[in-house]
Amino acid sequence: MKVVKTVSGMRAAVRYLRAKRLTIGFVPTMGYLHEGHLSLVRKCRKSADVCVVSIFVNPLQFGPQEDLRRYPRDFAMDAGLLRREGVDFLFCPADTEMYPEGYRATVEVSGLQDRLCGRSRPGHFKGVATVVLKLFNIVQPDVAFFGQKDAQQAVILRKMAEDLNLNVKIRILPIVREPDGLAMSSRNVLLSKEERRAALILSRSLGEARRMFDRGERRTGVIVAWLRKMIAAEPLAKVDYVEIVYCRDLRPVDLIRRDVLAALAVYIGRTRLIDNIILKI
Ligand code: PAJ
Repeated sequence: MKVVKTVSGMRAAVRYLRAKRLTIGFVPTMGYLHEGHLSLVRKCRKSADVCVVSIFVNPLQFGPQEDLRRYPRDFAMDAGLLRREGVDFLFCPADTEMYPEGYRATVEVSGLQDRLCGRSRPGHFKGVATVVLKLFNIVQPDVAFFGQKDAQQAVILRKMAEDLNLNVKIRILPIVREPDGLAMSSRNVLLSKEERRAALILSRSLGEARRMFDRGERRTGVIVAWLRKMIAAEPLAKVDYVEIVYCRDLRPVDLIRRDVLAALAVYIGRTRLIDNIILKI
């Protein structure tokens, strides 16, 4: 595995690969890798000739009050995992490499970026869209892999690729969970033992939403109210949002008649966690 730290170095590698007519698969990450990330890496390796993974904790997608400084990092562990997976290139630029002094340009996917997580994290998806477009321009992948764990991010990046005519296929892979149901996340290590137990409320409440839906409940108000009640009963948890929205445009739904996304964000102590399920008609 080649570790590349500069934009010019990555560009040179990509020029070489393109000249050899090799297809490039790409998995962007912020590191502190777990099985969720590795599921994307494995799929990437199977789908393209060359697999590029990036690790960049993107300051542009963290708000001033958010956990940029607390965000877990372990480059040696990540590099070891990626080497074992047979990754070809690890791109890990410094902040100044991606955002040199005087940097100005950003990308917005209006409407979509202000819903769900965007409401409590203003500017977050502008930061995500901007860095992903930059990474796409640097790596020039044929195909890029993202997780359904960040459902809104996936919708926004798809729309960005469509609207800006990007020449990259975007693939979204299912959520990888711990054996007890907690969605894997780099942030899970920030939880104390008590908080780790309390964090199960996310997947448990979504499981309850699924059961209500399977029993025929179609009124989202009823489902959401029940989930809020379940989460309120967990003393360490505080709801950020619980919403049921259309998968495509993330607009709120009253009565479920098509496939919908049930998504939530919950603070467990200081740590904000997200999870979601798709309810299929
Ligand atoms: P990060 O949180 O590191 O996640 C990198 C990719 O892994 C994302 O596509 C995310 O959806 C996916 N992922 C995370 N947890 C997962 C899980 N439990 N199961 C399946 N996939 C999972 O998302 C980001 O980084 C950043 O916003 C990024 C796209 C890199 C832009 O900075």
